[in-house]
Amino acid sequence: DVYDLRRIGSDTKIFGLIGKPVGHSKGPVLYNRAFESDGFNGVYVPFLVDDIAKFLKTYSSPDFAGFSCTIPYKEEALKCCDDVDPIAKSIGAVNLIVRRPSDGKLIGYNTDYVGAISAIEDGLRGLRNIKGETGSPLAGKLFVVIGAGGAGKALAYGAKEKGARVVIANRTYEKARELADLVGGDALSLSELENFHPEGEMILANTTSIGMHPKIDETPLPKHACLSTYSLVFDAVYTPKITRLLREAQEVGAVTVGGLEMFVGQAYEQYERFTGLPAPKELFREIMSDY
Ligand code: ATR
Repeated sequence: DVYDLRRIGSDTKIFGLIGKPVGHSKGPVLYNRAFESDGFNGVYVPFLVDDIAKFLKTYSSPDFAGFSCTIPYKEEALKCCDDVDPIAKSIGAVNLIVRRPSDGKLIGYNTDYVGAISAIEDGLRGLRNIKGETGSPLAGKLFVVIGAGGAGKALAYGAKEKGARVVIANRTYEKARELADLVGGDALSLSELENFHPEGEMILANTTSIGMHPKIDETPLPKHACLSTYSLVFDAVYTPKITRLLREAQEVGAVTVGGLEMFVGQAYEQYERFTGLPAPKELFREIMSDY
């Protein structure tokens, strides 16, 4: 992509992605094209960061107006903020930091929660083709979250808020137990998940990086296990667009929701907090449909 660099000057606001790795992110394309189309004087850059606390201290001038945070910094980011939104505090993870213009303080938010849960709800509504349904289609369902990191916490918290029963499955059982106690749910180790066949409708959400490019042959739950017991499978990974987990879930008849849908949903909120402008949703969808 080619951007009009002539608009970059001393009053340009700098935004960026803090993570490790950051090369796969679609954020730069999405935000820079939106800034351009809105005539907003900003630029969005990926920052490959080794130490988030040091990074935020170094780049503390008002020009550095906001950051998205990704793997592995969503929990550490919370500790680096001067103030944290109550929802992000309950989740225990921050994936958006905005510098308050009045005093330069860093305010932390979590936008994963909104993006992912609404994409899953839309998937479930489509499944039943219910129009005018009141309440969340997640209410009363069993919601299995794989992973207990920042994204896992966001999904577990969000599903619980919508009235689902939550089960956390994680490689390190202790972390699953900790998160389950925090949100009020049950815990499993990842290996136990293969033999988990309770009654009732189940939804599965992978929040780990398993299956992410370049390790596209990996999956947190192979097809031969109990994948067919889930009506909807969500994967936070969006490179590739259809992960092995999603492909195998489709093969056994589940509805699938990809990480791209979560990414676009959370990006609307990030853009609005970065710029104070409504997100150009059509443009976002158009850009992402190219991937
Ligand atoms: P994020 O904040 O984006 O969620 P994170 O905090 O690094 O990222 O969390 C990553 C999660 O993915 C963890 O739950 C991790 O499991 P552990 O708690 O056992 O470390 C899980 N994870 C990452 N890679 C994994 C792999 N190859 N196999 C199983 N679990 C993995």
